[in-house]
Amino acid sequence: MKIMIINGPNLNLLGTREPDTYGNKSFDTYFSELQFKFQKTELSYYQNNVEGELINKLHEADKDFDGIVLNAAAYTHTSVGLGDAVKGIKTPVVEVHISNTHSREEFRHKSYIAPNAKGVILGFGLLGYDLAIQSFLNKK
Ligand code: DQA
Repeated sequence: MKIMIINGPNLNLLGTREPDTYGNKSFDTYFSELQFKFQKTELSYYQNNVEGELINKLHEADKDFDGIVLNAAAYTHTSVGLGDAVKGIKTPVVEVHISNTHSREEFRHKSYIAPNAKGVILGFGLLGYDLAIQSFLNKK
């Protein structure tokens, strides 16, 4: 099983960015923990702050991954292009958010990803990525 985690804008700052909302751990540290936990799963991780690069990566990942975990961050709420990319590829995408976007500002309630995602996990902190991986491994 090959799973690609894609993180969008500002998630490279995890660990120092708004720690009350997003915690104190960097994603690199958390990714090492995921690799240790899911040793039989081939995990890859990509982060970019540029919308088009995220779209390119979704197209590329469609060629040889079994599942994609996508936290499109702020682009979730704005990007028709990312939503279309998720719709256009065959590999299932699980949408993840660290925070509970529904308990925050109204503009964070809208997702262009969700209508075409396999599922959405939000509000459980970094654990959401772990749960998303499990959702692919436990598929029946
Ligand atoms: C986020 C929620 C988004 O609203 C925000 O723009 C982010 C992170 C989350 O993981 O909680 O950058 O996707």
